[in-house]
Amino acid sequence: MSMHEQARLRRIKSEFQKQFGHLPQYIVRAPGRVNLIGEHTDYNRGFVLPAAIDRDFIIAASVASGEKITVWSNNYEEKDSFTLTNIQASREYHWSNYLRGVVSTWQAQHKSAIAFNAVTDGNIPQGAGLSSSAAYEVAVATLLDQMCNTALSAKEIALLAQKSENDFVGVQCGIMDQFVSLSGKHGAAVLLDCKNLTTETIPLDLERYDLALVITNSGISRNLTASDYNQRKEECNTGLELLIKIIKRENIKSLRDIPSAEFIKYQHFLPLALRRRCLHVVEENDRVLKAAQALVANDVTKFGELMNESHASLRDNFEVSLKEIDLLVSRTQAHPGVLGSRLTGAGFGGCTVSLMNSSSVGSYINRVLPQYAEATGITAQVYIAKVSDGASIIERPMAATGGELAQVPAL
Ligand code: GLA
Repeated sequence: MSMHEQARLRRIKSEFQKQFGHLPQYIVRAPGRVNLIGEHTDYNRGFVLPAAIDRDFIIAASVASGEKITVWSNNYEEKDSFTLTNIQASREYHWSNYLRGVVSTWQAQHKSAIAFNAVTDGNIPQGAGLSSSAAYEVAVATLLDQMCNTALSAKEIALLAQKSENDFVGVQCGIMDQFVSLSGKHGAAVLLDCKNLTTETIPLDLERYDLALVITNSGISRNLTASDYNQRKEECNTGLELLIKIIKRENIKSLRDIPSAEFIKYQHFLPLALRRRCLHVVEENDRVLKAAQALVANDVTKFGELMNESHASLRDNFEVSLKEIDLLVSRTQAHPGVLGSRLTGAGFGGCTVSLMNSSSVGSYINRVLPQYAEATGITAQVYIAKVSDGASIIERPMAATGGELAQVPAL
């Protein structure tokens, strides 16, 4: 653990002491992610290739008696509390709804829950497409798993966290963000098959090629619930239903089950907007598999080209980019030493991810970002991502017994 990380943990513990009068029993960390390629394919049961990053969400907690959960947010400097028997979304403390949602989903699934006091601390930029909300949910679900001694698998924790985002927060997200926040590996991307939730670790040895994975925050924040995300999902479902009727082949359960050659044959039956959405998904699945193969074959040039193609499709077919982001991406792609650049995450704002020679990072920051600022009036922020491990328990009681479970009446 770096000195910087140790200092952060000390600050979190001392805040906990200040708020609750003793040190926390548990400290859990869950990272954000950058998606290298495979956008809007997860909820279509397709392929994605994300990596966990060294920006994370930390929750420090101790079991409490009674039925009250109290949480202090270091980021907002606000305290929220609620009882296990009546969990509603908070209008006052928006940031607390990710925690409320996971606890509520946990109770519904396990018919029991546990009261606790917590301090939360995140350094993933919010609304930037780097999965700050998934990291929050995964940290809380992992904490509950520890406190309640349930020994859930990573897959079960990811599904619970996703359900909470779908049902409580109201975003019909796929499984990618929660899954990679749990299963990320240092120095590797995770090839996730969202149909059967199997993964393959794909080495991402940036140092070997002297490459940098550069995340650029466009400075345009997006609010997923208010965005067109759920609408895009519906469009994919409607396109799929039409294709199932037209193709009349058995075993088509998702767009993933339609190969691109077959899609091309039948695409003209779809209305234009749906045709474009489905085309993106079908081709993006192919690109993910090719991109993973390119990384395995050490063909980083090919990988970069696929990133560029993915962006073009997000812009033209899936229509989730913005003109400011298109400008940033095209200037980045044209910059010497850049292998590929694209919008990452859901879109409608947020970050780009770019693969470039390490020696090009300085000139990228000094030339491309001022051009972007001049054209848009917005200052973009750059993070050089380190590909990190998935969620971990940093501290827990020596013999964690799970404390006393507060049994909550069947819901
Ligand atoms: C968000 C969602 C993910 C995924 C991406 C788009 O990050 O949470 O499930 O759909 O958008 O690829």
